[in-house]
Amino acid sequence: MILFVLLALSLLHGVIARRDDDLMSFVTLPEIRALKWEVVYHDRERVSPGYWFVAPYGKIVPETPTQKFQPYQVGPYIYDGDGVLIWAGPPIFYDRNVFDFKAFTDSQNETHLSLIAQRNYDDSMRGRATIMNSHYEIEQEIMRLEDNYEFNIHEFNVLNGGESALACVYRTKELPLDDVGRPGVTSFFMTGGFVEWNLTTKEVVFAWDSTDHLAIHESVKFNPDNPADGPPGWDYVHMNAVDKNSDGDYLISMRFTNTIYLISGKDGHVIWRLGGQESDFVQDFVFSKQHDAKFLESSGTHHVISLLNNAGDENQQEEEVSSALIVELDTEAMTAKLQQRYPRPDGLMTLLRGSVQRLPNGNVFVGWSERGYQSEFSPEGDNLVSARFASGRLNTYRAYKYDFVGRPAYAPTMVASVYAADEASVLTTIHISWNGATDIASWNFYAQAGEEHPRHLMGNVPKRDFETMFLASGYMDWISADALDRDGNVITVSDIIRSKPVTTDWPALGYHGQNSSGPAPDDPAVRYPTDAPAPVKGEPPATTADAEAAQADTTAAGEASATAQQLAEAMMRAYDSLNGIGGVLIGLLVLCSMGGAVAGIVWMVRSRRSKKIYQHVPDDDDSP
Ligand SMILES: *[C@@H]1O[C@H](CO)[C@@H](O)[C@H](O)[C@H]1NC(C)=O
Ligand SMILES: *[C@@H]1O[C@H](CO)[C@@H](O)[C@H](O)[C@H]1NC(C)=O
Ligand SMILES: *[C@@H]1O[C@H](CO)[C@@H](O)[C@H](O)[C@H]1NC(C)=O
Repeated sequence: MILFVLLALSLLHGVIARRDDDLMSFVTLPEIRALKWEVVYHDRERVSPGYWFVAPYGKIVPETPTQKFQPYQVGPYIYDGDGVLIWAGPPIFYDRNVFDFKAFTDSQNETHLSLIAQRNYDDSMRGRATIMNSHYEIEQEIMRLEDNYEFNIHEFNVLNGGESALACVYRTKELPLDDVGRPGVTSFFMTGGFVEWNLTTKEVVFAWDSTDHLAIHESVKFNPDNPADGPPGWDYVHMNAVDKNSDGDYLISMRFTNTIYLISGKDGHVIWRLGGQESDFVQDFVFSKQHDAKFLESSGTHHVISLLNNAGDENQQEEEVSSALIVELDTEAMTAKLQQRYPRPDGLMTLLRGSVQRLPNGNVFVGWSERGYQSEFSPEGDNLVSARFASGRLNTYRAYKYDFVGRPAYAPTMVASVYAADEASVLTTIHISWNGATDIASWNFYAQAGEEHPRHLMGNVPKRDFETMFLASGYMDWISADALDRDGNVITVSDIIRSKPVTTDWPALGYHGQNSSGPAPDDPAVRYPTDAPAPVKGEPPATTADAEAAQADTTAAGEASATAQQLAEAMMRAYDSLNGIGGVLIGLLVLCSMGGAVAGIVWMVRSRRSKKIYQHVPDDDDSP
């Protein structure tokens, strides 16, 4: 028995050693370590439907691969409102940081996903903006501009369902300091600008740069007596958001002038300034170091915009708490009025980054950035839910919420393993996930005697987590599963996979059956006698009642299998409550309970689980 436990643990080592309490792990996608969430609902009734879009990163600059990033943690992720993983996108982006991950709908009501993938640490992959369809297939990639080092990470704003897109552009330029009373002196500056691309032709249709239109003295980061700097130069305006209205004018946010500008789409001149030292408006509110200024409405002389009023940065804080603001502008009377303020619920400051999104039902979704802290508010300002990463190691630049239907182009991932102590106690554990699929209500699990044999329904398991497990009694060799929606319609049919015995050396694992070659595949027609029709996508499947009947039948199918079946059912219930412990573990617990070594296993697992292998990453900055 001791030999068995030791061998089993060495087998398990790969699964357990990678476990950290703040990261998820999966049997079907062992390379993925998605962040867990801490979620607090205050009023679930009023929360809008949708999924969270985040892109956690450790450091804002491209980082060399370290153990911290392998397996994958950073990159784009979609979660549901309980923090259950829906899509892990990092494998597509090879451990690169991703920013501004969001969704948009085209004129045909098709959903697309867009994001910025940062260049990687050795420049072997350039920064780019990427558009995917709802099958997670890349449709378009826009590389950085020819004269620019990288794709700026602040904004990729797709307009009009995909006709064009906006992005920020930082450039290093040498500028004269006449404007701050130092004629004849020059310094390098990082200018702030933006471009609009036509997404059909991929041509730049509009380009703008701060040097041509803003004065250096507008900056609160460059003082007249600051020393002249060499390249890359003073980050004096820090452009961090751009949007466009139906008149063709652009709304831009400059963090280091504390100003939001309206830029003419005809000639690029500044139409007006909101905030900062030279505001054109009479305001009944203030803001500073802001992020994510966006139009909510804009027609003629009436505009409504949203912004994150960070109200401070690492060096200086102008208010006590950061807040999302919705403000109303009258450009005839030149008044700016606060329509609504959504203060950060924990009363703290977001000194870097952040986002504000008004949802279709009027709720407001705010990304406070650090540690993925995010809140949804009712229109009148009630905090309905707040959540943050369980891990303090990672942030997300922005956070969004979208309702959409994700249907991966690839098949679900399934893993099936066979465990046994002897011929009478054989179990097949099956794990399935479908990375990116939304709206799966449950999975039907099937076994068949061979590739061309009929499928037998083994059972139906509600989908409660990214990965769903089924425990079959006996050695079920040819396995498949159907994903069902809420109405019981089949969404997809998995491939048929073969189960893998956990070992080829059964006696070494403590197997005490009569045949030392280990258990032989069982006939599913005996254990699960319900015939299932051949799978047809879109047709209603066998009902849950059928599945229960099938399981009940199985219990009667024989003395030996009855024990295994009862164990399987007990372990399924245990699995539900343990939620996330791998099937390998469950299988071992089952086997060990047969041998009476549960305590030892649990102790070993506990002590290994508390081991942390990822390092804390304390440094972070907001530089481009
Ligand atoms: C898109 O969806 C909206 C709202 O569901 C609907 O009003 C509109 O007719 C749809 N448009 C197309 C082209 O399907
Ligand atoms: C983009 O280019 C296409 C093809 O030339 C043109 O039909 C379309 O109007 C352009 N759209 C924008 C927003 O520039
Ligand atoms: C033992 O099992 C192996 C593999 O399942 C099989 O080929 C062999 O015939 C079995 N031997 C006996 C004696 O039943």
